[in-house]
Amino acid sequence: MHLHKYEKYWLGAGIVGLIVFLIILGFGAFYLGTHPQSHGEIIDPENIEANDAFKPENRGLTKVDEGRYVLNIVASAFNYDLGTDESGAPIKNIEIPAGSKVLVQATTPDVIHGLNFAGTNINMMVEPGYVSTMEVELNNPGEYTLVCNEYCGVGHHLMYGSLEVVE
Ligand code: CUA
Repeated sequence: MHLHKYEKYWLGAGIVGLIVFLIILGFGAFYLGTHPQSHGEIIDPENIEANDAFKPENRGLTKVDEGRYVLNIVASAFNYDLGTDESGAPIKNIEIPAGSKVLVQATTPDVIHGLNFAGTNINMMVEPGYVSTMEVELNNPGEYTLVCNEYCGVGHHLMYGSLEVVE
């Protein structure tokens, strides 16, 4: 069998490309321990309240320091629990001053949901059995809609909320 000169070059380039790709992948996955936001911590989906972050009184937005917040969210079919106001009514709109750092922690007791504040970097999968976490800095004032972008059942489109970054 005879390989043309250029065929050999391209074959070689392909093999080198594959090796470089696998090295980068292995470095990111094993050496740096990169993993999806949804695999930071495990949780019992039947008893999410055993985790302090998801006790009813700790859901929603909490200021932990100057310019620092924690936002705990329970996604379930078909609702986002963003905490309650003083009268006990569910909060649907979260307000955060621009420039704040926010640690978002989310979980679900039932099926896979999405958690995306459209227009921000907050975009995670929420899986039963895991706590999804992500820390972001919110610098751009505006209103961002919270949507579920994993199809979770007949009420999928009913899952909503919003985040307002205020000056
Ligand atoms: Cu929850 Cu789609």
